[in-house]
Amino acid sequence: MSKLHVFDHPLITHKLSIMRQSGTGSKDFRELLNEIAMLMGYEVTRDLPMEEYTIKTPMETMKAKKISGKKLAIVPILRAGLGMVDGMLTLVPVAKVGHIGLYRDPETHQPVEYYCKLPEDIEKRIVIVVDPMLATGGSAIDAITMLKKRGVTNIRFMCLVAAPEGVKALQEAHPDVDIYAAALDRELNENKYILPGLGDAGDRIFGTK
Ligand code: PRP
Ligand code: URA
Repeated sequence: MSKLHVFDHPLITHKLSIMRQSGTGSKDFRELLNEIAMLMGYEVTRDLPMEEYTIKTPMETMKAKKISGKKLAIVPILRAGLGMVDGMLTLVPVAKVGHIGLYRDPETHQPVEYYCKLPEDIEKRIVIVVDPMLATGGSAIDAITMLKKRGVTNIRFMCLVAAPEGVKALQEAHPDVDIYAAALDRELNENKYILPGLGDAGDRIFGTK
């Protein structure tokens, strides 16, 4: 079974509390989301494999370490996942970025695919899927299934707020994918929104409502 990592870092929790408040506008919401993505990215990349190589300092030659082997790709689930990309790229500027477009049908709450553009060598990369909300888990499950169909084997999922229902569904569907969340909230409401949550992440990022 995959691991659920819930962050309890004061900086992340403090910023998330501001984002949750209904009075927080799009500009602050976007900035905080990227800041949290950067802080979480630090932890999500903690176990990247390292290798030794020889470098010359102005003083002498030494054996230094660098990230080895597989390189990273960040894959936001559109739209709201876009809000986490810049924060991740601040940490890993050479990461490639793929895009998967999914929206939840308002009636059925099932994800509907409308876009997929991934780096050519995606199957060789460690892929971090980003989306602020893990509600029913449908969007994350479908996005990860799409990646696996392209041959990707090393995937992690990073979100801001997770619901227990979504965590369970994602762990059952993709037991090999670790989940990183800034908070694990209480439950979903009848419209499959997270409680207490932060509302509609896409609308809050882009100011569409
Ligand atoms: C939101 C969110 C996730 C999805 C989570 O996107 O960004 O992608 O819902 O819900 P789920 O776990 O039940 O699938 P939404 O479908 O509202 O689209 P948007 O990002 O374009 O606003
Ligand atoms: N999508 C959101 O943006 N918010 C929720 O609470 C659930 C799904």
